[in-house]
Parts: sequence; structure tokens; C-alpha cells
Amino acid sequence: MPVLAIDAGTTGVTALIVNEDGRIDGRGYREFAQHFPEPGWVEHVPEEIWQATLAACRIALDRSGTAPSCVGITNQRETAVVWDTRTLAAPRPAIVWQDRRTAGLCARLREAGHEPRVAELTGLRLDPYFTGSKFAWMAEHDPRSWEEVTGGRAVVGTVDSYLVARMTGGARHVTDPSNASRTLLYDLEAGGWSPELCELFGVPESALPEIVPNHGEIGRTDPESFLGLDLPISGMAGDQQAALFGQTCFTPGDVKCTYGTGSFILINTGNEIVRSQAGLLTTVAWQTPSGEITYALEGSIFVTGAAVQWLRDGLGLIATAPESEALARTVPDSGGVVFVPALTGLGAPHWDPDARGSVFGITRGTTRGHLARATLEAIAFEVRDVVEVMTGAAGLKMPALKADGGASGNDLLMQFQADQLGTPVERPAIQETTALGAAFLAGLGSGVWSSAGELRATWDLQRRFEPGRRDDAAYARWLKAVDRARSWA
Ligand code: G3P
Repeated sequence: MPVLAIDAGTTGVTALIVNEDGRIDGRGYREFAQHFPEPGWVEHVPEEIWQATLAACRIALDRSGTAPSCVGITNQRETAVVWDTRTLAAPRPAIVWQDRRTAGLCARLREAGHEPRVAELTGLRLDPYFTGSKFAWMAEHDPRSWEEVTGGRAVVGTVDSYLVARMTGGARHVTDPSNASRTLLYDLEAGGWSPELCELFGVPESALPEIVPNHGEIGRTDPESFLGLDLPISGMAGDQQAALFGQTCFTPGDVKCTYGTGSFILINTGNEIVRSQAGLLTTVAWQTPSGEITYALEGSIFVTGAAVQWLRDGLGLIATAPESEALARTVPDSGGVVFVPALTGLGAPHWDPDARGSVFGITRGTTRGHLARATLEAIAFEVRDVVEVMTGAAGLKMPALKADGGASGNDLLMQFQADQLGTPVERPAIQETTALGAAFLAGLGSGVWSSAGELRATWDLQRRFEPGRRDDAAYARWLKAVDRARSWA
């Protein structure tokens, strides 16, 4: 009984057909446009995400030639979407998680003394990253769209909710706790929307989706809307929590890092809400249909793979992202070049929306190779910043890091990562772990699989990178460069 898994990521949508043995039987991918109307702003057109979803699913279904028994969804989190309840059309662009336009709004709330209470309720911080501030911005700056929301003609949500609405022909307005816990509107202890936070950010609770467990009966696709298919949607989670699930990190202490647009390190903390004073976020990993919640601590790094994408699209230095490895191998080291890819500010553990991308140490001898190498090194340094906090201030043990996502295929990066962490890095056979996690959730929700043990048995190691010599002087240079990139905007 194959499962159709949809991973609606930040730059494109992947669809996988996953078999009972955890193998991939069909794959489709479609990129969609990124819109940058002003410096620091990032927008998506919801209709383009939907069309990319349909296209990716069509390709995967055609390639596999099998009929799926259920659907799982995973998505870029925090991105704020508004849509009309009847037509499902979006009256305005979505504000993407990377968008920094609400830095001032967050600073105002911080100055007014709201941050401790917001952090206590949500496990998050007052940062433009999260959905709540983006809705507050819409209310203030786009009253025409917002009147639709307050008037009950439009609803709000994240990309998961938007896709379910489109796939069910508007029948369901739902989200799950892993996505809800990223909005700044979710009360972590109470396990539901917080009326206090809805008031603070000016979001009518009636416009928010119903929160349903991560697997089970979520909705049913409407054949007229979704490729003629009538299927249960039986699994759903934000992409980073889905990757944690896909890596079968089911035991407290299990940790993974997904190298996508950004990189996100999550550690399973079991049924305990663990709080961090050192720049990590507390978040819901998943909730079972019986109501049991697993939590995670997260270090969110905003720009890693996106820095390689910028080498490709912004600078034209490479034609494809994987070429970055060959280019970086043309030089033995970065030649003293340090690149801080704070292209959308800095997330964990520095949290500085005003930091900006910076390159240091350029000389007349600097080449494209040095810049490519410095980019890959920066990704590993950023991950080390977060892991140092996890294993230092947060006191967690990390025997190995499970890596996944597009850039985990880069051997040079993985080796450099193991060296910098002083910890082995394990790469699974299937690196599209995010979509795999959505498939696992959907398959659990509809009876394809019945236990975590069964899922764990499908996890295969492809390669383990053992740590070699650690260049601490390079890391010290990195920290100095980060310091200089801060408070730039
Ligand atoms: O929090 C943002 C995250 O969900 C985006 O993930 O894979 O699209 O970079 P990705």
C-alpha cells in the first residue's frame, strides 16, 4: 500500500511515492518563484505553491504507476498565508518565514516588555521568523486583506493548512501541533491556541485552523480539486519535525540536522518541555491521536543551502548546487576567506534580524574556489554554533548527528561537519527524510505501518563520517566574523 508524501518546502515542492518497505517508488519536484519586493522581504504566491504541488504529485504518480492509499503532508513552517474561505484564492502574497519586515514590530513588543511572557507561553522568542508577527504586520499594513479575515470571509494559516484546504476543496481548515507551535499563538503547556497571544498579535482565533494530531483522520482529498484522487490525508507535520520523524529519532536524546534552505537541528526531549536560556527554541515534535505529545529543542539556522543557491543564482558562480563541492575542492582551504551567510539575519543561537551577509579576508589571490569553500565551511560552523549550545548550556549528549536534506549529499561538507563537531555524522540511505517523515506519519495514520519499531527497521545507514582533525583556529575566525556581521541593517 504505497503512500503519497508531499513536502512543500521553501523553494520547491517534492512528492514521493513511498512503499511499505520505506523505499521510494516515484518522485516529482517542482520549484516555484521566490519574490523579494524589498531588501529583507521574502514572499510566495500561494497559488504558485499549489500549482507546484499538483505538478510534483502528477510527476511522482506517473513515474511510479501505482495508486497510493493515503497522503501525508509536510511543509515550510511559519510562513503566513491568508485565503478566501469560498474561492480558496489568496488576496495577498504569503509572508515567508525568512522575511525580516517585522523586526521593528518585534522590537516594539520587546520594548513594551512582552518577551518574557511570550517566551513562557510559546517556547519561542519575539523574532520576525514566526507567524504571529507576520499576521500583525498584515493587519497594520494591508487592511483590505485583513478586513476579509476579521469579517470572516477569509482565514489564516500556515502552508500545511493552505494545502489541506486546497486538497479537500475547502472542506477542512486544520493544522497540527508541530506547525501550530511555530506561530507564536500556541500555548505549549495548554496545547492549544492562546487567547492572550491572539489578542497581542491581533489575530481572531475564529480565523485560525483547528489543531488536529499529527496522524489519523485529518481530511479527505476532493477528486475534483486534487488530481481525481479520493484519499485520506492521514499524516501532517512541519518539515523539521517530519524530518525528525523520518530519521526515526523516536527516543529522547536522538538528534538530527536537515540541510535545506536553512539548517535545523532538533533533539527529541520526550514528553518533557525543556526550555533553553541559550537561544534554542522549545517546540512540539508530534502528537499521537491519543493526545500524547513529544517535544523537541530546536536550533534554527536560516541560511545554509540558500547560501549555495545564492552562489548559483545571485553570483552565477556555479550552474548547479552540487557543483559547489567540486569548486570547493579546487583549493586546499578557504585561503583565510570567511563568509557569514546572514542573508536574512541570523537565527539560532545569535538571533539578530539586523545581521547581514558578509565576506571577510578577501585578497588579490582569492578565487571562486575559496568563496565556494568558505560557503561550505560556514554551513558547518553555523551548525557547530548550535550544537555547542545544545551540548554546553543545554547539557545534552550527542553521540552522533544524523544528517539529511539536499546538502547532506555533499561529502566535503559532511566531513568538515564531523571534524568541526568532533562527532560522527551519519547519512541515511534516503536523504529526503522530510518527505519520508510525512509518509511515515500518513502510513501510521492509515494502518500501512503499525509501530515505531517497524519504521525504525526501514532506516539504513549510507555513510558514516568519522571526525578528523578539528581546526579550532578557523572556528575562532568564524566567531570573530559573525560578530562583525551583526547589527548591520
Ligand atoms: O522553519 C523553516 C523551515 O520549516 C524551512 O525548511 O526545508 O524549507 O528550508 P526548508
